[in-house]
Amino acid sequence: MSAPVLEIHNVSVSYGGVVPAVVGVDLTVGPGEIVGIIGESGSGKSTLAHSILGLLPKAARVRGDRFVLAGNTILDADRTTLSVLRGPSAAMIFQNPMAAFSPIHTLGKQLVDLLWRDRDQTVATKRERIIAALKQVGIPDPMGKLDAYPFQLSGGMLQRVAIAAALLMRPALLVADEPTTALDVTMEAQILHLMRSLRKTAGVSILIISHHLGVIAEICDRVAVMYAGQIVEEGAVETIFSDPRHPYTQALFACEPALIPTGVGRLPVIAGEVPRPGGTGCDFAGRCRFTEERCLTLSPPWVSASADPRHHARCHRSKP
Ligand SMILES: Nc1ncnc2c1ncn2[C@@H]1O[C@H](COP(=O)(O)OP(=O)(O)OP(=O)(O)O)[C@@H](O)[C@H]1O
Ligand SMILES: [Mg+2]
Repeated sequence: MSAPVLEIHNVSVSYGGVVPAVVGVDLTVGPGEIVGIIGESGSGKSTLAHSILGLLPKAARVRGDRFVLAGNTILDADRTTLSVLRGPSAAMIFQNPMAAFSPIHTLGKQLVDLLWRDRDQTVATKRERIIAALKQVGIPDPMGKLDAYPFQLSGGMLQRVAIAAALLMRPALLVADEPTTALDVTMEAQILHLMRSLRKTAGVSILIISHHLGVIAEICDRVAVMYAGQIVEEGAVETIFSDPRHPYTQALFACEPALIPTGVGRLPVIAGEVPRPGGTGCDFAGRCRFTEERCLTLSPPWVSASADPRHHARCHRSKP
């Protein structure tokens, strides 16, 4: 098997407070793989994504045993080296495509500017590359779009342009944080279809964050469930949706079972508050219907959760 595109081990991120926002996360994304991250608001999904892209605020601290992106170790490198390493390795798609562009310049100018690293190429060459990228993401009349301003495109079209912009960087990994949340259902379906096709046409791996279980079920190969800064369950998408073993994952799915595998269900709200991570025992114990004595005192181990060798959960009740 070829080397993973992303490989992180025991990575924690702190924003400066006593309690980290991401705690001891292990995550691997293989070549051409689409991995999803789900979890309630505040569980650390975006923090994890931003740590991969180097988008965390200056005060944030990333620690870990291993942090390898497209073959480069990015932990402990200084900021300048990091931006050089990350630039071509990973690109990010955000929730609101409008925010990805300046309102006062044409798309053509902004996309050409994006290619500033390629100093040996003429503007004409760059425009050709851009037109090809816009075609690749299914934008009609790509040449005409170069003279358009962001507000002249629909949200879905603009998200396509944002994806094209990301692809122009030829990233090994595309990180998409709620890429369809701002779009209507039809646009959402089209963007998902596009992202799925990109792994073949652009050879890119994708890490996608979504509140939307239908989105995750539809395009991911593997899913990681985050709760209070930790990954509490991980496995193949079919396994996670058909046989979730962590009580947190079960609670997420149980609220609207009919909607889960194929529907348009959004993550339901589970009673109680997400605790600040870092307490003793299991962080879910205060909300879990199976809580027993050991859950309050002992941190649950990361163990095999079912016969599927890729399926793991962080729960005392999951036994190998
Ligand atoms: N810039 C920041 N400075 C300080 N704390 C932050 C910052 N960004 C996020 N946090 C905190 O880190 C924790 C994780 O937040 P994060 O945004 O990663 O969650 P999320 O899973 O992406 O949530 P959502 O689903 O709402 O996008 C939260 O407690 C949040 O308040
Ligand atoms: Mg987020």
